Amino acid sequence: MRSLVSVQDLTNDDLLRVFELAARLADEGGVEPRRNLAIAQESLAAIGISADALALDRVMATLFFEPSTRTRLSFEAAMHRLGGRVLGFSDSRTSSVSKGETLADTIRIVNGYSDIIVIRHPLEGAAHVASCFSDAPVINAGDGGREHPTQCLLDLFTLRRELGHIAGLKVGLCGDLKYGRTVHSLAQGLARLGAEPICIAPATLRMPAHILDFVQETTGTRPPEVERPEEVLPDLNALYVTRIQQERFEDPAEYEALRGIYVVDPELMRRASKDCIVMHPLPRVDEISPAFDSDPRAAYFRQGHNGVPVRMALVCLMFAAVEPAGIAPGIPGAAADPGRECDNPRCITRAERYLPQRFDPLPYGGIRCAYCEARPAQQELRLS
Ligand code: NCD
Repeated sequence: MRSLVSVQDLTNDDLLRVFELAARLADEGGVEPRRNLAIAQESLAAIGISADALALDRVMATLFFEPSTRTRLSFEAAMHRLGGRVLGFSDSRTSSVSKGETLADTIRIVNGYSDIIVIRHPLEGAAHVASCFSDAPVINAGDGGREHPTQCLLDLFTLRRELGHIAGLKVGLCGDLKYGRTVHSLAQGLARLGAEPICIAPATLRMPAHILDFVQETTGTRPPEVERPEEVLPDLNALYVTRIQQERFEDPAEYEALRGIYVVDPELMRRASKDCIVMHPLPRVDEISPAFDSDPRAAYFRQGHNGVPVRMALVCLMFAAVEPAGIAPGIPGAAADPGRECDNPRCITRAERYLPQRFDPLPYGGIRCAYCEARPAQQELRLS
């Protein structure tokens, strides 16, 4: 893996390597960089990966064009605990983007200041574009409603640590499955590792068809879809709750109508098994009652803390895998298609007009945008 844009950039072996190293860092590491680096070096050497200069004195750029608490700070904490340094911005209004600079130019410049770039952006496909203009590895910390692969890593790691394994688990994904990028990545990760995602969402916020298709192709079973958690709760090993993504709604009235649709509280959780953990990527608004926080099954704060060792492990593996100075790969993908525009209003190509329109053919027919991976709306309707 050179850059991490989608969870599909990681093989199952990569996932296991991250989990194993993260577990050692969580159990035996601490805040002392030399100790953490020694653990990482020893673990990587044991699997034949040479890791001479992992992160000591390397520089991470964190470019956050959208709000964040956990993701940005846990990446920065991870880098500090590995003896690295961090620069960046947490509000794009303080960067030259507010003067009209393109994403490509921002990345070309930051690339000269840093060894690894972490980017969060409101538009889908932005991290992919960044990876095309950077010779340093790029990590997607969330691109619009599309994907959030490092959250998926810490979610899977949390399941493993809390429940001992991932294969065979039934995991209810509840809330905004349409715009929630964490559940898009997690559903794919769960399917890849042999767990069973179960979708719980109102009809207007269903999981996108291409994610359901992926799970079906991977596991042989299309995920069940229900509207209420009560319908599946007794069978679940974990309930993964998400916030309704207010910022992605075009019509505020639509958001208001859905607000508060699910509330996980002690009463609801009486229907779940005594071992069913509750997870949430956070921030929560009103979907988990604070009255549930003292229940031992409330795993969401432990989950948030797992972000640091998981991101330390990921950064070590990426530095071990990548030669420091490479060549920015440029815009890859299928031939440019000037006759067609991506019709996803949240696609990066809608804002960054210099990007050539490109579409990739899909194995089961049809095409998808090479940046945001959306299928043309007509095709989505036909297939769903
Ligand atoms: C999530 C995100 O930004 O997608 N938060 C996170 O990274 N932990 C979830 C959310 O904002 O609802």
